[in-house]
Amino acid sequence: SKNQPALLIIFGGTGDLAKKKLSAALYNIFKGEKTSENFAILSIGRKEISKDDYKNMIKEGIENSLNSNIKSKDWESFEEKIFYYSLEFNKGEDYKSLEKYISELEGKFDTKGNRLYYFAVSPEYFSVIANNLKQENMINQETGWKRVIIEKPFGKDLKTAQELNKELSEIFKEENTFRIDHYLGKEMIQNMMVIRFANAIFEPLWSAEHIDNVQLIVSEEEGVGSRGEYYDSSGAIRDMVQNHLLQLLALVTMEKPYDTNPESIRKEKVKVIKSISVLDKEDLKKHIVLGQYRGYKNEDKVNEDSNTETFVALKIFLKHEKWRGVPFYLMTGKRLKEKFAGIIIEFKANKDKESNLLYPEVTPNILFIKIQPEEGISLTLNAKKPATEEEITSVSMDFCQSCMLGYNSPQAYEKLLLDAIKGDHTRFTRWDEVEYAWKFIDELISCCTRDKNIIEEYEQGSNGPEGAKKLLERDNRRWWKE
Ligand code: BG6
Repeated sequence: SKNQPALLIIFGGTGDLAKKKLSAALYNIFKGEKTSENFAILSIGRKEISKDDYKNMIKEGIENSLNSNIKSKDWESFEEKIFYYSLEFNKGEDYKSLEKYISELEGKFDTKGNRLYYFAVSPEYFSVIANNLKQENMINQETGWKRVIIEKPFGKDLKTAQELNKELSEIFKEENTFRIDHYLGKEMIQNMMVIRFANAIFEPLWSAEHIDNVQLIVSEEEGVGSRGEYYDSSGAIRDMVQNHLLQLLALVTMEKPYDTNPESIRKEKVKVIKSISVLDKEDLKKHIVLGQYRGYKNEDKVNEDSNTETFVALKIFLKHEKWRGVPFYLMTGKRLKEKFAGIIIEFKANKDKESNLLYPEVTPNILFIKIQPEEGISLTLNAKKPATEEEITSVSMDFCQSCMLGYNSPQAYEKLLLDAIKGDHTRFTRWDEVEYAWKFIDELISCCTRDKNIIEEYEQGSNGPEGAKKLLERDNRRWWKE
């Protein structure tokens, strides 16, 4: 079924995100005929460029991210939907003419007054724009809904996040606010609940009694690219752990929600985030590994003696009876050997190990949820090696989703944009999730980041600093993805 009429208004239309991810997502949605006939896109940026130049930029962005050329027929019908408007975000007086322009588009496309504002700008503009929209009465209008998608980073620590939330919540109601975490739109992450709760074989084993440890890994090949300025003041913990990795953790460990309503799900997720236990500083130092790739300091707009971490590995626990003593190892970094994201559940080795009964030396069962680039699930089991009498070998049952669907699997932003147009909050973060995540991250950061004695340098294209390996070796464990 077709979606609701809407005008998507992107602030930050010439930025990295719009070019690299949003435009390709929008193009796919449009091509897949998932938008209403009454749909258009208005991009707003500070740059004074012509509509045609803007369109060319977007076309190039789409072709780069999809890695193929767009057929001119497809492009022609899509480009009719794209508009560009240049604006200084902080010039309140200019919003009057913006409103006029928007109304014209609304008339032309008959979008019924439904507006999805997308703040894809640097965070200092979030409240500036929201306030100006309010000033010009662009939010509480009689017809249509007015929603807002807020890109990351939602604050840079607990205090700034709270301030930002306070300001925004005075302007947009929670029901109209969509805090985006694009990992929640990824196929296999959407799949987590089904894997856990629609199968009888996992949930009974899903606790400290049977799980030895959980590994959450997001490694990237890319460096900081053109985002040096933002990244250098952020670092891997704020950029990746505060949001994406803690969201993964929540989905892996939350209790079964009462139903699939967004509120039921988010209620369970927030409990997990709240229960991440904060260790004292000395313990924390032992549980955190920070790294910086060689050459990072020479990246564009990065401080030449920067102590920002581009890699982090962490060991954390949950204050929850069910997860008592189970370590969660989180790892993420830039300029690593390969692009990869996945969740690894290592089950406790077969009980015979302790009592040395039948098969003492077997590999533990591993459930591996592959998020990207490959999407799929694998489960490793022990089996008798054929033609031997008692040799045991590790075998794997594989479900490769992306092998079946090829590259047709929709991108995260496609899903999330459509969700916001539908008004579905399930895959967006509620304020308290963000708040508790920051509480934990603040503790982590105050412990020891930006300390040059702790940050280990690592080679580009490597597995990251040695410390990450040692973190697990000390516990007699290993990363299952190297
Ligand atoms: C973003 C981070 O949220 O996620 C980037 O700011 C990171 O630094 C990106 O590169 C990773 O997303 P994906 O979808 O490419 O894994």
